[in-house]
Amino acid sequence: MIKNQTASPFSYDVLILGSGAAGLSLALNLNPQLNVAVLSKSQLNEGSTWYAQGGIAAVLDDNDSIESHVTDTLNAGGGLCHKDAVEFTVSHSTQAIQWLIDLGVNFTRKPSSGDFHLTREGGHSQRRIIHSADATGRALHTTLIEKVEAAPNIKLYDHFIALDLISQPDPSSKKLRCTGAYVYNRNTDSVDTFAAKTVVLATGGASKVYLYSSNPDGASGDGIAMAWRAGCRVANMEFNQFHPTCLFNPKAKSFLITEAVRGEGGKLRLPNGERFMDRFHKLGELAPRDVVARAIDHEMKRLGSDCVYLDISHKTPEFIASHFPTVKQKCLSYGIDITKEAIPVVPAAHYTCGGVVVDKSGQTDLSNLYAIGETSFTGLHGANRMASNSLLECVVYAQSAANAIESSINAIAPHTAIAGWDATRVTNSDEDVVISHNWDELRRFMWDYVGIVRTQKRLERADHRIKLLKKEINEYYSNYKVGNDLIELRNLAVVAELIIRSAMRRKESRGLHYSLDYPNLAEVARDTILVPDNFASQDIIVHQN
Ligand code: FAD
Ligand code: SIN
Repeated sequence: MIKNQTASPFSYDVLILGSGAAGLSLALNLNPQLNVAVLSKSQLNEGSTWYAQGGIAAVLDDNDSIESHVTDTLNAGGGLCHKDAVEFTVSHSTQAIQWLIDLGVNFTRKPSSGDFHLTREGGHSQRRIIHSADATGRALHTTLIEKVEAAPNIKLYDHFIALDLISQPDPSSKKLRCTGAYVYNRNTDSVDTFAAKTVVLATGGASKVYLYSSNPDGASGDGIAMAWRAGCRVANMEFNQFHPTCLFNPKAKSFLITEAVRGEGGKLRLPNGERFMDRFHKLGELAPRDVVARAIDHEMKRLGSDCVYLDISHKTPEFIASHFPTVKQKCLSYGIDITKEAIPVVPAAHYTCGGVVVDKSGQTDLSNLYAIGETSFTGLHGANRMASNSLLECVVYAQSAANAIESSINAIAPHTAIAGWDATRVTNSDEDVVISHNWDELRRFMWDYVGIVRTQKRLERADHRIKLLKKEINEYYSNYKVGNDLIELRNLAVVAELIIRSAMRRKESRGLHYSLDYPNLAEVARDTILVPDNFASQDIIVHQN
């Protein structure tokens, strides 16, 4: 897109793209002297955070230890977690939870002792998940947003969609630095320029690249795509996690049945009532997520069934009502009484384990650009994220990013003039069907060819299709005015390509990447790191006439 107008930018010290757990925690951890903007592409609560059910993993019990949480995370991660990132995250877990408690997050307590109730999920050898019944994300987000709204230095913008980052040469080095973002304002249907000393991607994951997903619609990998276009490395995109148990009902869009149901004794059953998980893993229903999702996929394909069943009906109605009020209510609204019958469930795309490569303070390859939360790749999750480690990662890295930003921001030189967005050469689309068609096609072939079980042939098919689609989408993007759907589709095409490329490179089966052509584990565990042609860490080449 050509930019030639003089910008009249919104100007901030820190521009945070995303109002989920990561973005809001960062905003609250920054020095209140800093002028901060937080953007959300739709309503402020419409990210994955709001929908989180199970809870947040942390070392909170006297019988638990940092070593145990670290070991479980490493085991779930299929040999690919970065041990230093795991130790860093887990060793900050207790204080991260204390910070949330001090803010006022209403975590569930045991009626008997008043202590916090800790639940269990797959891969955890201990009860270590602090939660707010089965709506932890809602409790967390409600508290964070209340505090942010009360902070005079933080301005919230809803329905503002960042579409690309702005980079300029850094006067003190030969490299580029990030100085803002172009943002589509859905309220005015125009593109605004936001300038900032520091920009933070807290835009969540990319699971909407798949046809069936537990995520809200906006999980289109915008941050990953923007960072890639701006020259940042992206890693381990082949590891998209499929949650084993989403409600199977044609009318129930994206509703998750929390893993805590299995943590509290829920059993997976075939349509004939038979249990099957013990055939796949010694931990049965509480095996790591990749194993459970693959087992369900295998059984569904073997039997030709549409779903399997998750049964918690052996627990008392009182227990179910107090632990799983949201799940109970939602299922009842579809005519399923979980106190009496099993819940029909299927796996669905849930979490993006890969993302924008960052260090321990969330710094990306591009100066003054940070990435935190699901959009980032810290090395914590390896080839398979352990349940409830992601909200923890959001808070811990928000805090470390806040420290890094505070210690560097005063030394950042002011940006030079930023060109505004030029929409004079584009017109209104007369063929929106191109967007809806490509959107459906992309998500369907990703599900069919790059899903839970992969083959080289399927990946090649997907690779062929994504190249054609990207060309068509980019052409469309150059000619027509941007809008929400087009911005998301353009980003989905980028992340789909990154996932396919990464999956094609991995010639083994590890964690969430399972290939029928390469069923074994390679001897050495390696990250898949993709480097863009315009890699931001390289010196800027100055062309002279
Ligand atoms: P999000 O919460 O997804 O927020 C992303 C934000 O970025 C939104 O505000 C969005 O509007 C904004 N945004 C995106 N693109 C743009 C753009 N282009 N411009 C401007 N703004 C943009 N994890 C756990 O640890 N425990 C759980 O119990 C748990 N349960 C889950 C249940 C469900 C149903 C789902 C979907 C996920 C669950 N997860 C859980 C995962 C966890 O919720 C997410 O990983 C986490 O909330 C991500 O937080 P985030 O702040 O990175 O992103
Ligand atoms: C769940 O409650 O099952 C989701 C937990 C997670 O994704 O971490």
